[in-house]
Order: sequence, then C-alpha cells, then structure tokens
Amino acid sequence: MASSSWIPFNRPNLTGAEARYLMEAIASDRLSGDGPFARRATALLADLVGAPVLLTTSGTHALEMTGILLDLGPGDEVIVPSFTFCSTANAYALRGSVPVFVDCRPDTLNLDERLVENAITDRTRAIVVVHYAGVACEMDPILDIAARHGLAVVEDNAHGLGGTYRGRPLGSLGALAAQSFHETKNVQCGEGGALVLNESSYLQRAEWVWEKGTNRRAFFRGMVDKYRWVDLGSSFLPSDLLAAFLTAQLEHFEVSQRRRHEVWNGYHTRLADWAAEQGIAQPTVPPDRGHPAHLYYLLMPDLDERQGLLEHLREHGVHATFHYQPLHQAPAGLRYGRVARDGCPVTERVADRLIRLPLFAGMTQDGVEQVVTAVQAYRVRAGAGAGKATEQALSPA
Ligand SMILES: Cc1ncc(COP(=O)(O)O)c(C=O)c1O
Repeated sequence: MASSSWIPFNRPNLTGAEARYLMEAIASDRLSGDGPFARRATALLADLVGAPVLLTTSGTHALEMTGILLDLGPGDEVIVPSFTFCSTANAYALRGSVPVFVDCRPDTLNLDERLVENAITDRTRAIVVVHYAGVACEMDPILDIAARHGLAVVEDNAHGLGGTYRGRPLGSLGALAAQSFHETKNVQCGEGGALVLNESSYLQRAEWVWEKGTNRRAFFRGMVDKYRWVDLGSSFLPSDLLAAFLTAQLEHFEVSQRRRHEVWNGYHTRLADWAAEQGIAQPTVPPDRGHPAHLYYLLMPDLDERQGLLEHLREHGVHATFHYQPLHQAPAGLRYGRVARDGCPVTERVADRLIRLPLFAGMTQDGVEQVVTAVQAYRVRAGAGAGKATEQALSPA
C-alpha cells in the first residue's frame, strides 16, 4: 500500500531551468515582449506544431485574436462545442458574434461532426473545435464540411499540444489554432498561450493585431522607417520574463510528457477491471490519434455517483474534480449564444458524470498507487444510472 498523503489535483511542473532563465532575462535588461527568450520559445513551439506561432498572454487571448483575424462581427455565427471552457465562445461573443452550441460525441466528448452541418446557417462563418483531453476531433470530416461551406476552422488546442490526428500534429489542422500555457496545462508559464498560423495569408495581420495594431515588428526588422497604427489590435504579447519560463518548459517537453503518459497509462490499465465491473467508462482514444496525456477522466453512471466518488476520494486524501459545465445553459451562454437545433443532451449528461483524477508531471508512483487504491475501493450503488438512456442511445446515427 502506498504511503498516504494529500494528492493535489494539479501541481505546477518545474523543470529546473526556470529560475536560471528568469535571472538571465532580468540581467539582459530586456523584459518586454518579442525579446530573446520569446524567440527561443517561439522556435521550440513552432517546431512542435509545425507552423509559425506568436506567443500570447493566454489561450483566451489567442482565441480572441482569431476573432479579429477572421473579421467576425455582429450577426456572424460561430459553431462551438457546448462542452468546453467559456473562452472558446467568449472570444467570438466579444466581437458581437453569436456562438452556436453543438453537442459532443459520447465517446471522445469532442464536437460531434455529425451534427455540424445541421447547425450551419447563411450567417455561419467558422467552426471552432476543441480536442478534449488532447484526443483529436474527427478532423477530416470537419475540414471537409468547412471547405464545402466556405467556413474557417479554428482549433482550440488548449489540451492538445503534442497530440496527433492521423500523424499530423494537433494545432496544425485548422487555419488558426490557440494554445494555452496556463498552470494546469502540459506546458506552463502561469498564464500564457500562443496563436498558431497555419495559413500564410494571416501572418502579416496577425503581427499587427498582436502588437497593439501597429507594424512595430516590421520596424524592428528594418522593413519600415517608423512604426504606425495600421489595424485594430491589442497587447497580446507576453513579457520576456514569461517567455523565459516557457523556454525552460518547452525544452523539457519530452521528459515531462513521458511522466504524464506513465501516470495516464497507470490509471488506464490499473482501473480497467474495476471500471468494467462498476459500469464506469474510461476515456476513448481512437487508434488513428496520439494523445498528450493532458487529463484522465472517468464517466460515472450519474451525478450522485460522481459526487459520491469525489467525496470518497477526498476522504482518502485525493483531490479529484469535475470539469466543464454546459455553455448553452450558462448565464452568458444563454445571453450571447444559442443552442443548435439538435440540442446538447450528451453534453448535459456528461457534464454531470465526469470526474478528473490528479495528473501532473511531478506525480510520484506512490501518488498514483494512492489514487488507484482509493478509486478501486469505491463501489457504485446497485441500479445507479438505471432508467436513463445510455450515451450510445442518445448519440445520433
Ligand atoms: C478548452 C480551453 N480553451 C481555452 C482555455 C483558456 O486558456 P487560458 O487559461 O490560457 O486563457 C482553456 C483553459 O482552461 C481551455 O480548457
């Protein structure tokens, strides 16, 4: 039996180089954005996603940049999943556009591509996908629908750095993609993000939007003799202090990913028999995708059982959590968005049933043992979830 201590849900991961790089950045007298560490972090990230990137102050800001770059405005509609973080929709609501909430698939919990076409109207301009838990959406069908209707595809890749779809890196599939480096993500700098630019037509404007609507970057490259206000924009670029931290994280990516996968695989293998006996679903990863071990979840039979397991784990020193609540039912979702005509029944059920287990790169083997042992000691009550439709029954053909 593992020695028992409190297992937090998340602990920021330090690679060992952060403090040194921060001191170097401070000593360099160059603390603002687009500095030497930003260039290092940008190169490392561009290598991972296989496309040009701009570092941003958050994933939220990278999504907001996509709204500006796509020229979205009042009257435009953007298809988004309901099962996601509010920034995925808020970025477009901020521009006066309407997020149209579409349900998720019952297996991967990703935007259900079979419902997308039915949600398209003559005002639809873009489809935003979220690769939940870093497991890719059904991208080929989604890209095909978008091409047929002349819509842009944006990847909210907050979970998916390092994941793949049919061998292609997540973040490289849509016209634009947003990364997050929030402290809960696989690569972290407290608060941070990046915009991935997969279509060269966005490159120049993206630099303007990023630098307060100015062509300052072109000025620093010696391409113009003074810089001016040339477009709408904001201050989306992070200080070089954050970029220094991020550089350490990105240089260490493979090492921290290896540990995250060990934890994820440990849960998946060790909980398989218990989950099957108790009628609990584990994550689905289709064989044509590689996932980055961003999060590990279980789908309990119903809300009571989810709350029961949360409480049971807390009593055993384990901090587990629930996750997204349906955006189409959130106060701002109701005010600024609308639900697609098929509704979001899977999202509503999944939001009640999902529990996330602790998963971070610094997690020890004893910690994994403690979580597994505590979960395995939980018994679902007889008849839990009975009388409710299964996810498969709710799923469209
Ligand atoms: C799917 C998704 N999109 C966007 C964000 C926002 O990222 P950030 O916290 O970097 O602004 C998050 C944050 O958790 C997220 O989970």
